[in-house]
Amino acid sequence: MNILHIDSSPRQQSHSRQLSAAIVKKLLELAPGADIIRRDLGADPLPQTEALYAAALASRATLAAPPAGSLDLSEQLMREVEAADAVVIGTPMHNLTIPSVLKAWIDQILRVGRTMKSTPAGKVGMLWDRPVFVGVASGGFFTGERANQPDFLTPYLSGALSSIGLKSQQFLPLEGTAFLDWEHAARARDKALAALDVTAVERVTEISANVGWMYADLASPRQASPSAH
Ligand SMILES: Cc1cc2nc3c(=O)[nH]c(=O)nc-3n(C[C@H](O)[C@H](O)[C@H](O)COP(=O)(O)O)c2cc1C
Repeated sequence: MNILHIDSSPRQQSHSRQLSAAIVKKLLELAPGADIIRRDLGADPLPQTEALYAAALASRATLAAPPAGSLDLSEQLMREVEAADAVVIGTPMHNLTIPSVLKAWIDQILRVGRTMKSTPAGKVGMLWDRPVFVGVASGGFFTGERANQPDFLTPYLSGALSSIGLKSQQFLPLEGTAFLDWEHAARARDKALAALDVTAVERVTEISANVGWMYADLASPRQASPSAH
């Protein structure tokens, strides 16, 4: 099993980093031999959309004949998603939504004709579904009785991931970090983690075990046919 572990806080001492690390730890309890593919967008931000990449995505015609090298980074990042059986994302709430470094990643992995189809009825994902766990840290509150701000993070990230086929999502919010010292934050993190539903991962580990046995002598069939779903 492969886990793609993404962080997007600029801070190393970060609530969302601790939350995502705790989620990964839980998954490793289920799949002790799992490999981790790491993307630390906070420490190593991706470039913002560059001219050649934007030129490639401008139309069907430019996508069919993109400028040389313009899609290389995008391909690399898509392959990391395709190689993953589960994705874990740690994200802060920055001004009501995801931080720009995570948006830069989204901008590279959503592409018509590669990870999604554009149809009259909307975008249809081309990747097979796999569980995505999102640990969200926010200074204030955006759910429940204490909510005092709109939440554009959850619906946006959920919609973006769904559009490429990643529909099995679980959001684990750790809210009110501005009011927590590290001891109380640890308790709040445990509380957020208690909601973690690993059923989807158990299913994946079973499938991985079976597929691994069936295809022991072949390259990973999942990477070979990402649009099987
Ligand atoms: C640029 C910036 C914008 C922020 N905007 C919000 C916000 O809109 N709502 C909120 O509740 N907290 C906001 N915060 C606070 C962070 O969500 C909070 O500090 C959170 O713990 C950050 O996650 P981290 O600990 O993983 O870095 C913001 C922080 C920064 C740096």
